[in-house]
Order: sequence, then C-alpha cells, then structure tokens
Amino acid sequence: MSDLKTAFAAIVGESNVITGDFAAYANDWRKKYFGKPLLVVKPGTVEEVAALVKLCAETKTPIVPQAGNTGLVGGGVPDESGTEVIISVARMTKVLEVDTINNTMTVEAGCILQTLQETAAEHDRLFPLSLAAEGSCRIGGNISTNAGGVQVLRYGNTRELVMGLEVVLPSGEIWNGLRGLRKDNTGYDLKHLFIGAEGTLGIITKAVLKLFPAPRSTQTVFIGLESPQKAMDLLGFMKGALGDRITAFELISDFGLSLVTKYFPQLKAPLPPAFPWFVLSDIADSRDAAALTADVEAALGEAIEQGIILDCAIAKNETEGNRMWELRENMTESQVHEGRSIKHDVSIPISKIADFIKAADAALEKAYPGVRPITFGHVGDGNLHYNVAHPLASFTEPNWTKELDRVNLIVHDATAQFNGSISAEHGIGQLKREEIKRYKSALELQVMKNIKAAIDPQNIMNPGKVI
Ligand code: FAD
Ligand code: MLT
Ligand code: ZN
Repeated sequence: MSDLKTAFAAIVGESNVITGDFAAYANDWRKKYFGKPLLVVKPGTVEEVAALVKLCAETKTPIVPQAGNTGLVGGGVPDESGTEVIISVARMTKVLEVDTINNTMTVEAGCILQTLQETAAEHDRLFPLSLAAEGSCRIGGNISTNAGGVQVLRYGNTRELVMGLEVVLPSGEIWNGLRGLRKDNTGYDLKHLFIGAEGTLGIITKAVLKLFPAPRSTQTVFIGLESPQKAMDLLGFMKGALGDRITAFELISDFGLSLVTKYFPQLKAPLPPAFPWFVLSDIADSRDAAALTADVEAALGEAIEQGIILDCAIAKNETEGNRMWELRENMTESQVHEGRSIKHDVSIPISKIADFIKAADAALEKAYPGVRPITFGHVGDGNLHYNVAHPLASFTEPNWTKELDRVNLIVHDATAQFNGSISAEHGIGQLKREEIKRYKSALELQVMKNIKAAIDPQNIMNPGKVI
C-alpha cells in the first residue's frame, strides 16, 4: 500500500490521502454497509483525478467514486476486501460560471446541492433539483444516481437538468463534454451514459446544469383525504385547475406522519390526525402571491365540494410552508428512530398507484399479519416510497431485517404486476444488484455489460455495483 499511498500523495498532497479513520467515507448513510477501503483520496482538480485514475488503471486498483455519501443503495461505499480506493470529489466545489442568458450553470462535481440552489437564487434563477439530503449530497452524486426528489413532476429528474459533463474515464483520459446546448445531434449523446451509471463508467468532475426562471410566488398546501385513490383523483383535478404550476405533490400516510410528530415533537401537523391520508403540494407561479393564492383557494374549495378532499391547510406565508415541508423532509429520519424498515423506492404508472398500494398491502398482510407499511413519496411522478415496518406482535427489528428478501419479493413482484420499476430514483448500487436480475431482461443486462466492458475493460470503476 505504501508505494501507492506515496504515489497518491505526490499527486494530491499528503493531507488529502486518508489512511486512518474511514468511517465517514466507508459506511453508508443507512449504516447498512461497512466497507474497508485501501485508502481515501481527495483530489482538488480534474487533472489530479485523471492522474489518480491513470495510476489505478496501471496498477489495476479498483475505485469507488464518492461525493456526499448520502446514497441509499450502497453504491458509494467500498466492499470489505481492503483493496478499493475511494476517490472523493468533496474538495471540488467551484461554481465556474452562471450564464443567465443561456440559463446554465457550470459547476464542479463536489458542489453541495443546497449551495447550487442558493447560487441560482442569487442570480434570480431556479435550480430545481430538491431532496431531503440536499444539505449534504453533492451534484456529482446527484448526476451519478440520476436523483429525483420532490420537483420531478414539474422539472424532471437530474437527467433532464444536465446539459453537459466532464468525465474522467477508466483510462484516466478526460472527456470534455461541457457543452451548454439544448440541441446537439452529433452522434451518441454520451452524457446520458454517465448520468445514472452510479460511478461504474467514470468519475464526473464538472457539469453544465440547466437553470429556470425563479417563480414569483409559491403556495404550499397540506390536504387531508380518505384514500390513495382520492389523492390521485386530486392530482388530476389540480392539473386541470392549475396546469403545470404544480411543482410538488407528495403522498403521506397517517402512520408515516405519526412517526414524524412522534420523533420530532416540535413539528406540528397542520391538520388534525383525523385523516388517513395526506397530500403535501407546492404550486408555483410567475404571478404575485395574491393571484396564486386566489386560484389555489378556488381549486381546493371546489375539490372539497366535489368530495375529492376532506380538508386542507393553505400556508399563509413562507414560514408556514417551510414548516409543512419539514414534516415531509423528516420522514426518512423518523423511520430510522422507529427501527429499520425494509425500504422500497418504486415507480408505478400514476394511474395505477392506488391499485398498487392496495395489492401490496394485501399481499404483505397475508404474509405478515399486522405488518406496518409506511407509504409516502413523490406520487406526482409515480414514485412511491413503500417502506415496511415490522408487525409489532410477531417481530422485533433484528429478525425483521432477515425478512428483507421475502418482503422485497412481495413488493417488487407487485411492482412488476403493474409494470413498474424496482428503483425509481435511488439506483441499484449493491442493494439491488441481485434483485435487478429478476426484473430486467437478460438482453438488457447483456447490453449494459457490453457498454461497461467497452468503457471499463479492466472493471476498475466501482466494481460490484449495478451489474
Ligand atoms: P454518494 O452517495 O457519494 O454517491 C452516490 C453514487 O454516485 C455512488 O454510486 C457513487 O459511486 C456515485 N458517485 C458519487 N460521486 C461521483 C462522481 N463524481 N462521478 C461518478 N460517480 C459518482 N435520492 C433521491 O433521488 N430522491 C430523494 O428524494 C432522496 N431523498 C433522500 C433523503 C435522505 C434523508 C437521504 C439520506 C438520501 C436521500 N436520497 C434521495 C438518496 C441520495 O441523497 C441521492 O442518491 C443522492 O443523489 C446521492 O448523492 P451523494 O452526493 O450523496 O452521492
Ligand atoms: C425521500 O424521498 O425522502 C427518500 O427518497 C425516501 C427514503 O428515504 O426512503
Ligand atoms: Zn425520494
């Protein structure tokens, strides 16, 4: 190790080669994977990344690219072999250009997502990618997982927000694809290979991101309903009444909400817990707040008239709206306190969401009477987080996690029954590498392997992840 360590130190400087306490880098956010890296290296420039990768290619040293280490499928942490080097882009945090006429922002891969949101706002623009981990996830990781979050139904996944990339290939060569063009039909669109590749094809070092006009007003509403079907009816109704001004539409079950207020008692639900289901939605407009609020009030009043919703709270100001969002943003954290649930991140055709929940609930209840689904997520774009907590009477947490495969099978088979996907936004990583073989055709998997072999013939880029 020492000559590799010396060689790395010669490239990035001694202080940017970590050989001791790896916990912050080697353990994933969920504390499900405890990897053992050979080394952690933190380059400061693309040239340093290229030199590191070149050395790894020459010595056949496997690499795990890492950014904010908030991934939920173990994609950004090493295995336990002690042979893999984590290359972290966390030091590469420059915003290189904000072009408010081209509506693009050129940034380094280590930029924290929240910083980019704030930078866009300083230029009276919106960078719309938004997820609960935005305070620590980094744009290189967001691109590599094709992150989704709460505004996909209006602005798309990360894939739709990237216009150009700079990537260090497994050979150590630097591909400069940093173009800010909305049209460019000159052969294969290579950036789309690296978006969502989870670090298995190269290390993203820079990106050109799309910016949008900043909305002049945003209205947050918290709505009580009787069923998931009513929630999906409401989505259709609101799209008719408010058009594409709906920027977020999150489903929350009463059990999910009760966990948030149980573990974060300072957070208060804006409606009495009298309702079995809730929707949290944002509507944004280029007009002023008064005009938008009037439209939203009229639409929700009509929804109550038509029996689509039972009640609603309309945030009077930004503070009230943020408080409503804190309830949603703490869903994941609150489940950690309740005890490890078996998580799912599925996407279902929007029209089938309610039927999926019914089918999955029934199948799980049959297998595990008293099981407690925590159902929530970005149903506006068909992405449901269907996390399953153990039945209180018959399981405790440690033996519940042993049921992972069987619970996954039940939920993912129900997903396949509705022609859905077993990973909507979190990716495959290590967590679903076996699972994916059951739901992707052999041909699809073979084409992916052919692409991987063409770009990373030595298989040094994040081996053992995805395929
Ligand atoms: P990391 O965890 O560091 O890495 C993620 C993957 O990208 C790994 O495979 C890694 O190898 C690869 N990678 C990292 N950097 C690079 C690079 N420079 N080049 C190539 N590959 C690279 N995700 C969602 O999509 N939507 C959500 O709503 C959402 N909510 C979350 C809520 C919480 C509380 C938490 C903890 C996570 C949530 N996530 C969500 C998951 C996670 O935040 C996203 O997957 C995020 O995009 C990961 O970014 P990161 O910087 O932490 O990447
Ligand atoms: C979220 O949307 O909060 C996460 O993607 C869901 C999860 O952590 O399961
Ligand atoms: Zn999510």
